[in-house]
Amino acid sequence: GSILHFLADPGESENEQAYAYFADGLMLVKDGLVDAVGDYVALASDLPANTVITDYSGKLIMPGFIDTHIHFPQTDIIAAPGTQLLDWLERYTFPAESRFDNEAHATEVAEFFLDELLRNGTTTALVFGSVHRASIDAFFTVAEQRKLRMVAGKVLMDRHSPEYLRDTPDTGFADSAALIERWHGLGRLGYAITPRFAITSSDQQLARAGELALAYPQVHIHSHLAENHDEVAWVARLFPWSRSYLDVYDHFGLLREGAVYAHCIHLDEEDRKRMVDSGATAAFCPTSNLFLGSGLFDLAGARDASMRVGIATDVGGGTSFSLLQTLGASYNVAQLRGYTLSPLLAFYMITLGNARSLGLDQHIGNFAVGKEADFVVLDPDATPLLARRMQSATSLAERLFLWMIMGDDRAISATYVLGNLAHSSTETIQHA
Ligand code: GUN
Ligand code: FE
Repeated sequence: GSILHFLADPGESENEQAYAYFADGLMLVKDGLVDAVGDYVALASDLPANTVITDYSGKLIMPGFIDTHIHFPQTDIIAAPGTQLLDWLERYTFPAESRFDNEAHATEVAEFFLDELLRNGTTTALVFGSVHRASIDAFFTVAEQRKLRMVAGKVLMDRHSPEYLRDTPDTGFADSAALIERWHGLGRLGYAITPRFAITSSDQQLARAGELALAYPQVHIHSHLAENHDEVAWVARLFPWSRSYLDVYDHFGLLREGAVYAHCIHLDEEDRKRMVDSGATAAFCPTSNLFLGSGLFDLAGARDASMRVGIATDVGGGTSFSLLQTLGASYNVAQLRGYTLSPLLAFYMITLGNARSLGLDQHIGNFAVGKEADFVVLDPDATPLLARRMQSATSLAERLFLWMIMGDDRAISATYVLGNLAHSSTETIQHA
């Protein structure tokens, strides 16, 4: 098959130096890592005699997709109708998350959730749990069995939420520290300190989260920022001393490299500058922003300001696990803002770009020799209509554009984790 991976940000100019494309390519995997990638003819001539070759003629192999913001306990409330953010949290989200104190339930959902990620070609994600420690024990147990590279954390939430879903500044601190000690760095797992957002954490809890961040500089920080107008107004009332919503997180020491803030729709110039200087990442969640009516993220503005930007599904505010569909929605949001999103930049963003956003690009994101061999096989013939449109697409960019506008889980023929088949559209895979 053909192989595409990115070496750098291609920009809107689609710089050809930014990617490597082999129309008839071969990738060699050894001990779960990329051993070589190149033209089939050049590489196939001197292979060891016992090399097993899997043929994906007609298909496109790319690095596994990376999702920079998703909630596993919201799997069962995807497509919950009729509300915007704050009502949606009360009516659907909190009741669903209340069930994750039960480890058996959390395990069952984690299994389904990871199956669904793999069916959609996603091999790494930055994941919200619920407030319960058990939700993360369950999630990491399943992710570890499958040898997936995943980053996750227990939610910190001690106010403006149902009593039964709250922790306290001290229990939230202690439970997070215990989870970090148990899981961070085990296999391919990483921890994220996860205050839900400024509304549901008291000053004391945000201060304790900042202390955790100081004590564990190697872990991620993960939260929500400036998603919805009512939310932004409430934060201004709760923290009257703050210059802006972002300033609240900054004040408590929660801005740094490895901090990922979902949405960032309603930021001003100074906020953007502070994001850039701190090295924090904004996660653009277009299907969620459209579904919850939150607003239109300014991707070009963020990139022009040199902000780090990832793309994410935000399930269950987001309406799809598919990063292909998420790219389609990103394109639509860009159109509404009056500019375009090139397919090469789009596919860079869900692979190497998101790996860089999460600071994981020494491990994943492209096929540099020695990186972990997580990859997807894209099918140009996934549906009759896609196959028909693909016939008239002559360039790589045209084919990528069709996958990004028309593609979904049906376009993922197979997903590999550390060189092993983890999802196939034609076979059933048994997980450990
Ligand atoms: N803000 C605080 N919590 C949430 C959540 O669960 N989803 C989204 N989209 N925004 C939030
Ligand atoms: Fe979210």
